[in-house]
Formats: sequence, structure tokens, C-alpha cells
Amino acid sequence: MKSIHVQVSKPYDVLIARGILDEAGSRIAAALGHSRTMIVTDDTVDALYAARLEKSLTDAGMAAEKFVIPHGEASKNMRTLTALLEALAEAAFSRGDILIALGGGVVGDLTGFAAATFLRGVRYVGIPTTVLACVDSSVGGKTAVDLDAGKNLAGAFWHPSMVLCDPDTLSTLAPEVRADGFAEIIKYGMIGDAALFDMLHHPDTMDMEEIIARCVQAKADIVEQDELDNGLRKLLNYGHTAGHAIEANSDFSIMHGHGVAMGMMIAAKYAAGRGLCPADLPAKQEALIRLYNLPTQSPYPPETLFASTTRDKKRMKNKIDIVIPKQIGECVLLRLDIAELKEFLSEGCTK
Ligand code: NAD
Ligand code: GLY
Repeated sequence: MKSIHVQVSKPYDVLIARGILDEAGSRIAAALGHSRTMIVTDDTVDALYAARLEKSLTDAGMAAEKFVIPHGEASKNMRTLTALLEALAEAAFSRGDILIALGGGVVGDLTGFAAATFLRGVRYVGIPTTVLACVDSSVGGKTAVDLDAGKNLAGAFWHPSMVLCDPDTLSTLAPEVRADGFAEIIKYGMIGDAALFDMLHHPDTMDMEEIIARCVQAKADIVEQDELDNGLRKLLNYGHTAGHAIEANSDFSIMHGHGVAMGMMIAAKYAAGRGLCPADLPAKQEALIRLYNLPTQSPYPPETLFASTTRDKKRMKNKIDIVIPKQIGECVLLRLDIAELKEFLSEGCTK
């Protein structure tokens, strides 16, 4: 088992081990005390894993109720949030009780935000079941729902009290959902871990427990220094500026990681073209992205991406911080003004 302590304002542990789902009840009871629990999950994950979680909770002497949402991003909204909060109130949940997010990033973001707001804040435990949720969204305390006006526009920083990650649950993922999460893993390799970048070249023999742990440790190291996303944490957005624009233009039919993969190529080509990183870096990154069946070329022209990017929440007045590679395993922030952003996108979109 790998254990990573995240030393933020409300510290917590991330435990990563195959089969840990069946120990969730005893581990939660040992760390957080016996409490009532509300499992929040989606219909797909419910059918696959909720019964095992419920059994482990009841075996540990904890009552488990369940709130199931339809799978997919369309559930991550204020209507579902309200329904969840009403269900908690209806069941007379108290400040000492615990929400458990069993699922991918959608379930995690929704449950975390419900936990942040119910009774002005209750505890929640993350049990991520997608690659993306294991390596990224379950750690760091960003919670949110989407508004009609855009993605993740209402949310809070609210840390989980514990995260239990069982890599065995990833075996049932659809191939494109699994691949999607690998874009974030490649990102961790690019921003700070050249050895991880190398390991990813051997998908048949790599140890998922080790890979997830490296990513979680990398995220913890950054979040501990910049919990509220004012500086260093922006490094986690490598590939995200253009990636978000690609996702938004597709009406979110292009998944997050797929957008990030294309966004990383835009940033790398821009940096290489300007002599800010080695000339062969884009080709090396592209080969790895392709190995995971992820796309490397934006289907939208730079002008279209520019229009979306200028509406991005990462923009401050007429400046935007983008992340560019210096070498594999090291990225830096670059503050661009809006005119320079146009050049970033057009130079980055070259074939
Ligand atoms: P998701 O939660 O929608 O899961 C993708 C699909 O996989 C769903 O259909 C789900 O039912 C299914 N699924 C989940 N686990 C499964 C399993 N083990 N086996 C089979 N099917 C399974 O999507 P996601 O990619 O996990 O997360 C995307 C969300 O995460 C977005 O809303 C994004 O905004 C958010 N996000 C948040 C953060 C953060 O820091 N909070 C970071 C990145 C992304
Ligand atoms: N997913 C980026 C962050 O947590 O900051």
C-alpha cells in the first residue's frame, strides 16, 4: 500500500492499494470514527462497486445510505446539488456524519461541494474510480458544479478527510475514459517527473499503484505550497488553457484529458518554436500521447480557440498565465498579454 499525507490547512491521507475498496469501512472507522455515511455515486459505478462499499461499511458497524445520480457531466449541476442537500437534510444528517464520493470526477466534485455547504461543512471521503479522479480530481480540495453559463463556475475549496484509491476498480473503465486520465499522468511527467514520463513508455508492465502514488505526491507537493491556486498550483494547468477551449468548443463532447493532450502539444510546439525548450521535445511528447490513443492536433483553428480562451476563468484582466515546458520533467509559468496569447495559439497549432 502507498500512503501519501497531504499537509494542507485540513490535512488528510491518500491511501492507494489494490482491493482497498473492501476495507473502506474499517479504514474510515479507524481514521474518522464510527459515523453515519451517505454514499454518493453514479448509476454505472453503483452497479459495479457500491454493494462492496456498503458491505464494508456495515461490517464496520456504520450505517450507509446511498444517493445515485445519472452518470456524466450533465449531472454536475445545481439541481443535482440541491437534490443531494435535500436528501441529506431529509435523512437528518448531522455535522458528525460523512459523505463518501464513490466514482469519477463528476461524483467527486459534486459530493465535495455538497460537503462544503451542508450545515456549513461536513466531512467527506473520496473513493475515486477513474484514472483522472485517482491522479487529479480527488486530491487538492477543488469542488464545483457547472452553471448554465459554464463549467465549474460554482464551487469551493473543501478538502476530503481521506481518500481511498483502489486501482483494481480501473479495470472496468471504457478504454477512452481510461486513456483520458492518462493525459493527466503524462502532464505530471512533463511538469515535474521525467522518470514517470519514461515509465509511461511501458504500459504493459507499469505498476498502477506506483504511477498513481507519484502523481498524487506531485499534486500534494504543489497544493501544500499553494492551496488556493494563486501561483505555483497553476503549473497543474499544463495543457489546460488551450485544452479547456477545445473542450468548450466541442460542447464537451471532447473529454477533458483529450483536450489537455492537444493543449500540451500546443504549449510544447509554441515553446520549441521560440527556443524555450529543446527542439525535439514536442515529438517526444507527441509519441507518448499517441501511445495512449490520445489526440495531438486541435480540430479547431487558433482563432476559434482564442475566442474561447479569452473567456477562461484563468485570465486576469488582460493577462493570462500559461504553462510551457523547459524540458521533459520541468515546466514554467509564462504571463502573456492577450495579443501574445493569439501568437501562442497560432504558433502552437502548427502541424
Ligand atoms: P466521470 O466522473 O464522468 O466518469 C467518466 C465515466 O466513467 C462516467 O460515465 C462514469 O460512470 C464512468 N466510471 C467511473 N468509474 C468507473 C469504473 N471504475 N468503471 C466503469 N465506469 C466507470 O469523469 P472523470 O473523467 O472521472 O471526471 C471528470 C470531471 O472531473 C469533470 O467534471 C471535471 O471538471 C472534474 N475535474 C475536477 C478536478 C478537480 O481538481 N476537482 C480536476 C480535474 C477534473
Ligand atoms: N486540476 C487542477 C488543480 O487541482 O489545481
